[in-house]
Amino acid sequence: MAIGVFDSGVGGLTVHRRLVDRFPDADFVYLADQVNAPIGGRDGEAIVDLTRAGCERLFAAGCDLVVLACNTASAIALRRLQQTWLPGYRKTLGRPVNVLGIIVPTIEAATGLPWEHEAERRGDKVEKLDILAVFSTPATARSRVYEIEIDKRRQDVAVFVEPCPELARMIEAGAGAVELATTVEAHVKAVTTRIGRAPDRAILGCTHYEMVADMFRAALKPGTPLIHQPQATADALAAYLAKHPEYLAGDSGGRTFLTTGKPGAQHILVETFWGGPLSFEQA
Ligand code: DGL
Repeated sequence: MAIGVFDSGVGGLTVHRRLVDRFPDADFVYLADQVNAPIGGRDGEAIVDLTRAGCERLFAAGCDLVVLACNTASAIALRRLQQTWLPGYRKTLGRPVNVLGIIVPTIEAATGLPWEHEAERRGDKVEKLDILAVFSTPATARSRVYEIEIDKRRQDVAVFVEPCPELARMIEAGAGAVELATTVEAHVKAVTTRIGRAPDRAILGCTHYEMVADMFRAALKPGTPLIHQPQATADALAAYLAKHPEYLAGDSGGRTFLTTGKPGAQHILVETFWGGPLSFEQA
């Protein structure tokens, strides 16, 4: 058995990298749905359908657990699939399977609180607001998941989400450094203007953006902490596997990279991030 990792494209590799480092012996199958990428500008039903199709492919490839290494799929599709599709699909497959998202661990890391914790609203005066900027796809921004879930837990954190409609597509296409940096700078400037000052912390709330994390660091106020979604996800998966021994991660260190798009090598931005060549097979 193996762990499946799903994203619309190469962005999920930023999470995958951490998972592979954390679980070197586990077997992994990565699926990039590149024929449909980017998904962050699509409507909700399309995102649900594409996420379900990706999970089905990964379960068919022998995975028991699928990690949605995609904020858009986690924000829009995960709950729907867990409630309306997975229970029946488990019966069809005749084995335990599950799908995990990456927003819960990210919010836990951002709030410093376990997911189960919901703050009591005591109406205390908040002395100092911690301003958190979240950069995301339009669909994740529309879901308001980061604002809603952080606000439930921490009244001293104010969340400002900045949708970046073109950035995932540009990263997917291997756009040049100048073009990427200009776009990142424009979004950092836009959210800073909206807030009225620089954010105190930031979340790169689309897994593609981690590939250009240095550009975000350069555009943000020097030293602005970035909450590291790949690390938070790896920690959450370790905790989940420890609690759920029924999901087997495999032990032969298998690495399979599948794409619904063009098989073969990925562009230089991806290889630089990954630290070596990466060849994808046809899904
Ligand atoms: N990498 C994805 C995310 O974290 C999706 C990007 C896209 O396909 O628009 O949201």
